[in-house]
Amino acid sequence: MKILVTGGSGYIGSHTSLALLEAGHDVVVVDNLTNSTKTSLDRVQELAGRRLAFHQVDLLDEKGMSAVFEQEQVDAVIHFAGLKAVGESVDKPLYYYHNNVGGTISLLRVMDAHEVRTMVFSSSATVYGASEEVPLIEKMPLDAVNPYGRTKEQIEDILSDVGAADPRWNVALLRYFNPVGAHPSGRIGEDPTGTPNNLLPFVAQVAVGRREKVMVFGNDYPTPDGTGIRDYIHVVDLAAGHLAALEYLARHGGVHRWNLGTGDGSSVLEVLAAFSAAAGHDVPYEFAPRRPGDAAVSYADPSSALADLGWSATRTLDEMCEDHWRWQKDNPQGYASGA
Ligand code: NAD
Ligand code: WQD
Repeated sequence: MKILVTGGSGYIGSHTSLALLEAGHDVVVVDNLTNSTKTSLDRVQELAGRRLAFHQVDLLDEKGMSAVFEQEQVDAVIHFAGLKAVGESVDKPLYYYHNNVGGTISLLRVMDAHEVRTMVFSSSATVYGASEEVPLIEKMPLDAVNPYGRTKEQIEDILSDVGAADPRWNVALLRYFNPVGAHPSGRIGEDPTGTPNNLLPFVAQVAVGRREKVMVFGNDYPTPDGTGIRDYIHVVDLAAGHLAALEYLARHGGVHRWNLGTGDGSSVLEVLAAFSAAAGHDVPYEFAPRRPGDAAVSYADPSSALADLGWSATRTLDEMCEDHWRWQKDNPQGYASGA
């Protein structure tokens, strides 16, 4: 198949584009490069030994997007493009709703006009909000607690309405838990702009000497070691989940929701220990107050994805940290490190 990957030069998009090329699909990436560089795609092509097509277009530019659809004749879309920083979404809600929700509406209109009605969408465990019940199951009510999360919830609603109105649409809503790690080659990985918001990239930058220490947000949670528990998932496992969803959509219509997680939780201190082991030295940290809006524990029930897609995550926390470290060590300044 020929797959359009929006946001394909970003962290998860680059790993998924590689997996698609490796599986024999043709790949067309659309990205406006607000939060990524084209170097990731140069490296994806080098790893795959195959070319992909790249168009620097904003999703909100319907004319530009139409031109891509006219030129490329794609079969399906994997839709990663979006802004994802929770704190920034609180400060700039209109920017987030316009880009994420508006961008998706534009994309859907262009897809419909070109009779491409298969989409795999990057949703997030954030749609479950601060639920205290674990594991999180797809049928639970959604209750996102910040503007970023609400863009994901709203896009899920829009896609559900579109699918209900027109049975020709085949849609997968994939709710990712905490994507981490990097391709084992160390050539592609997560390259956040500015101060990382997420734990793993922050830990990696401390380990490589770019930052002094990790602030552990809260050590008084009702968990065995007092720190927050999350379901970290290797980005290569996550990429494979997208291929499994695409295969499913080739055989089934309708709108489907799946959690993509491991089903296991790890605490912040467990992540620090695993990363220190991978790096071969202790990563310094200090306890700090809880971060507002954080749940104590969040992990997936991934059994629907296994039952429907035959997909499950196989990589361990140690592998996630080893691969994340290899990428950070080989590219201390991310893609700006060069070569
Ligand atoms: P990323 O920022 O690395 O990738 C997103 C890409 O989208 C970037 O390359 C950016 O330049 C591009 N983009 C943004 N707005 C665009 C627009 N209007 N037009 C064209 N391109 C645009 O992020 P990521 O971590 O790879 O995340 C991919 C998707 O997965 C996002 O939708 C994100 O919300 C979702 N997600 C991420 C996580 C996570 O922790 N990384 C967890 C759950 C869900
Ligand atoms: C993980 C754990 C923190 C940083 C976020 C988004 C969610 C999704 C994934 C996109 C928590 C602790 C963190 C630090 C720390 N993204 N922590 N020190 O909050 O589970 O989810 O990313 O959809 O929407 O909210 O991930 O990596 O920020 O935090 O102690 O410097 O690490 O308190 O327990 P989170 P995270």
